[in-house]
This record gives sequence, structure tokens and C-alpha cells, in this order.
Amino acid sequence: MGHSAALNFADGKTFFIDVQEQEFLLDAAVRQGITLPLDCREGVCATCQGRCDAGQYEQDYVDEDALTEQDLADRKILACQTRLKSNAAFYFDHASSFCQAGEALKIEAIVTDLEWVSDETVLLKLDASQHSAQIQFLAGQYARIYIPETHEYRAYSFAHAPQANNQLQFLIRYLPEGLMGRFLKSHCQIGQSIELEIPFGSFYLRENEAKRPRYFIAGGTGLSAFLSMLDQMPASDQIIHLYYAVRHEEHLCEQARIHSYTKKFSRFEYHPVISQPSEHWQGLKGYVQEHLETEQLHAHHFEMYVCGPPTLVEAIKSHLADHQIENGEFFSEKFIAAA
Ligand code: FES
Repeated sequence: MGHSAALNFADGKTFFIDVQEQEFLLDAAVRQGITLPLDCREGVCATCQGRCDAGQYEQDYVDEDALTEQDLADRKILACQTRLKSNAAFYFDHASSFCQAGEALKIEAIVTDLEWVSDETVLLKLDASQHSAQIQFLAGQYARIYIPETHEYRAYSFAHAPQANNQLQFLIRYLPEGLMGRFLKSHCQIGQSIELEIPFGSFYLRENEAKRPRYFIAGGTGLSAFLSMLDQMPASDQIIHLYYAVRHEEHLCEQARIHSYTKKFSRFEYHPVISQPSEHWQGLKGYVQEHLETEQLHAHHFEMYVCGPPTLVEAIKSHLADHQIENGEFFSEKFIAAA
């Protein structure tokens, strides 16, 4: 039985390949038209070097001049020596064009619902079941959605894990003057066809075998990426904190779904944080960094994922630096609401 491998590149493109039992990752990629850089094919030159971000693998011969002990501890791999033991995701620090990986997948999908989940957020639901194969992406990645009758697209994170029936969901911030906003408000019809290009982005869930505590910090519709990650993660007793920052409490959305994660994760804690709350708001106020438990962060090796506007990402980074919190893995995706 083979496995699936996601190959993610520095230009943000991801390609999925199948890797047969006992087949080397590099051979599988070349077989499917992705010519990863290579030279010796013997584990010596390190030309085919990458990093495994998720999944299990083993390597045959790795010369000590190709990868050091530390490299191996950091899950660096030589694709010509790597065999998969599970589905896995790999990162290669060069553009996909270096290996003639071609274009991202373009698909057509049908609008099935347009749900206003807050006064400034729409949950766009699409049926892409006419695409016969299961649409693959890594939890946290995004799609480019083309606005009909324009050549413009906007990027939105998937709001769910990959599903066999190819039903897609995206949380979209409604900007009345934006191209997408005008389309959604005035022109979008149930049953209409929309074109998407998928998948993109290097913001995705990493391997965490040790069940390190995970901190998910969303600004606005950055929540979408975390819904995808939380859907993707298996049930566990891992410590998970979800911080969700919005300006007003009426901008919070998908609350029932978020609360339902407490059934799946026994140590899931949800922290909505409102920067300009009404007088009735009883919860956390201000900014997320003011509510991070510095002592808790110092106490464990943790993973932190931040998805939101640049100001949020920078504020969290500064907070960690100011408090000399260095015992965590930090991943972020900055986005600006595009008009
Ligand atoms: Fe030389 Fe893989 S091609 S180490």
C-alpha cells in the first residue's frame, strides 16, 4: 500500500504525489513529472535536500557531510533516500519552477450556499464534486477564488479538512467596496459556477508527535485556517488554546462549531478577545498578547500558529521576544483584507 506526499515549495505551491511502498520520494516525484533537483542519487551531495513537516519516514544512506546530526533531528531529509511510512508533507526551499512542477490545479465548483455568519463575514460553500479525485490540501492552506467575469482572484483559507465528497467552505470577510464583496452581495447566485486554483501556502499543521501544547491565534477570518486544522487533527488530550481576536463581539462567528471542539479535544480552551467590546461583554478585552500566559509558555516546548493581519503577527512575535520565550516553534501567515 502506498502513501500520499504533499510537496510544498518556497513559492507557496503544493503538489500531491503518490509514493509506492518501498519507493524513494525522489523517484515518485520524478515519475509524476516533478523533477526535484538531484545529482548523486546516493545520499551524498545533498542536492535533493528537503524537510519533513508532517508524517513518518525512514532514510537509507545519509552521508554525514550531506546532513548533520542536527539536520536529522530537525527532520531534514534527502529525497533520494527517503521512503514513506505514512502520508507526509515535505518542504523544499526553492521555487516549484525549479523542478518543472507546472501549474497549480484549477477546478470548477458550484455555489451551494452563502451564509452570513456575522455582519462582516460570509461562509461561502462550494460543491466541487464534479472533480472526480479528492481535492487535496494541507490543513491551513488557501485557495485562489476567481471572481466571475473578472480576471481577479482573492485568496481564502479552507475552513475545513479535505473531504472525500469535495464540499468546500471558506470564511470571507465582507468588504462592501471590494471586488469580492460586491460580487457576494449583489451578483452571487446559488448554482453559479466559480473557478478556483489550489492549493497554496506554507502555513499548515506540522508534525507534533510529542503532543506539545498548540496555540492557535486567529485575527478575524484567520479563523478559517484553524477550523481546517482543528477538523484535521485526531481527537486527543493534547493542550490546545484557540485565541480569536475581533473588534466587536458581534463579529465572532462559528461559535457553535468552535465550542464543539471541546468534545473532540479534552484539553481544548477557547479565548475570544475583543478589542472594542460593548459594555455587555464579559470576556477578554484588548489584544491577544495581553492574555497569553507567559509562565505557561515558558513551562513547555510548544507550537504557536498565528494567522491574521500583519499587526497581530508582529505583536505576538514582539511579545515572545520581549519575554524571552524561545522554547516554541512559531508559524505565521499574514494577510491583508484585499479590496
Ligand atoms: Fe545527492 Fe540525493 S541526489 S543526496
